[in-house]
Amino acid sequence: MHFELSEEHKAVQAAAKDFAQNVLKAGVIERDEHQKFPVEEIKQLAELGFMGMMVNEEYSGSGMDTLSYVLAMEEISKIDASTSVCMSVNNSLVCYGLQEFGTEEQKEKYLKPLASGEKIGAFCLSEPEAGSDATSQRTTGIDMGDHYLLNGTKNWITNGNSASIYLVIAQTDVEKGHKGINAFIVERGMEGFVVGAKENKMGIRASDTHTLLFNDVKVPKANRIGEDGFGFKFAMKTLSGGRIGIAAQALGIAAGAYELSLAYSKERKAFGKEISQHQAIAFKLADMATEIEAARLLVYKAAWMKDQGMNYDEASAIAKLYASHVAMKHTVEAVQIHGGYGFVKEYHVERLMRDAKITQIYEGTSEVQKIVISRSVLSK
Ligand code: CAA
Repeated sequence: MHFELSEEHKAVQAAAKDFAQNVLKAGVIERDEHQKFPVEEIKQLAELGFMGMMVNEEYSGSGMDTLSYVLAMEEISKIDASTSVCMSVNNSLVCYGLQEFGTEEQKEKYLKPLASGEKIGAFCLSEPEAGSDATSQRTTGIDMGDHYLLNGTKNWITNGNSASIYLVIAQTDVEKGHKGINAFIVERGMEGFVVGAKENKMGIRASDTHTLLFNDVKVPKANRIGEDGFGFKFAMKTLSGGRIGIAAQALGIAAGAYELSLAYSKERKAFGKEISQHQAIAFKLADMATEIEAARLLVYKAAWMKDQGMNYDEASAIAKLYASHVAMKHTVEAVQIHGGYGFVKEYHVERLMRDAKITQIYEGTSEVQKIVISRSVLSK
């Protein structure tokens, strides 16, 4: 057992912290209020090599490990979870999926610009009637010989309008159930592909979440990922790593709320002393510190397992389930510690509380994580 971060890991953590504090923080309230996508900030993240962190250098990535990615996600999410979800989807769903399962041609054409951050990617699985029940895909891809004809609607797509490369899951053979599902690379600009309405969300408001419409979109056969029928497994394998990224996001949101609460409780006075000197507040801080550290250990362990080449499906679901619970619970406590100030935007904790909720919903609800975990423990 070795719990100390290496010098390389500490350097990544410090770079992410510096970026979050000195670049992201200034405009975070305004971007949230006006649902303004962080265009310039994402460009700077790309310059830091944070948009393709785990992609090999030969494909324009940074060649870092999953733990580095998690450390960066944590620091960035302490300040701005809207920016970190864009980063997370690009890194762990889109780039990972292409690096692991894409052809050489797909990597050259699509992975390189995504990993360098020149282009942004989106992962399109959810549908109006297929959220947790991801096998119930209604989007169809009919095999037309040299291409597939894509028709359907995708919902809740992160980076929906800012992306230009989309990984789209579709049913290609209804008879075969989940074995008749494929994943396709769709480019922005393909005829019949339309970016639909933008969601007006409670949290992560600066990220752009859209409905996408596919009307007879011709997708070349060369844009199918993996063997025929690999699409559902592709989605599951990719999401399993994605859950580590969202767990790190939840951890960062919780840790950000804790750090603000700790500082505030040492400044604010009530009944003649700093509020941190009242046990009611001190005990809240103790619970926060304990549970956030437990979440951190689970998230780092899941990342470490992925880096070791071990099976991390159960570990990533456990990390996401717990970290998202901790994020929700302790951002509510952070607002309570701040009292009336916690209820206004300038103190940041109300935004963190709103942002925390989505971590219990996307990339699999808490209930989906429990399905994954319970099936895994029962199969042993
Ligand atoms: N790796 C490889 N294969 C896997 C797998 C994994 N992690 N998980 C499942 N599979 C395989 C199974 O082995 C099975 O294959 P076989 O029939 O060959 O054995 C097949 O996939 C079907 O698996 P299940 O029977 O377990 O499927 P299920 O219908 O019971 O569903 C589920 C399981 C866990 C609930 C799954 O549907 C699921 O994860 N749902 C949630 C989807 C989700 O996370 N959506 C998020 C959208 S993306 C997003 O939010 C991104 C964003 O914008 C931020």
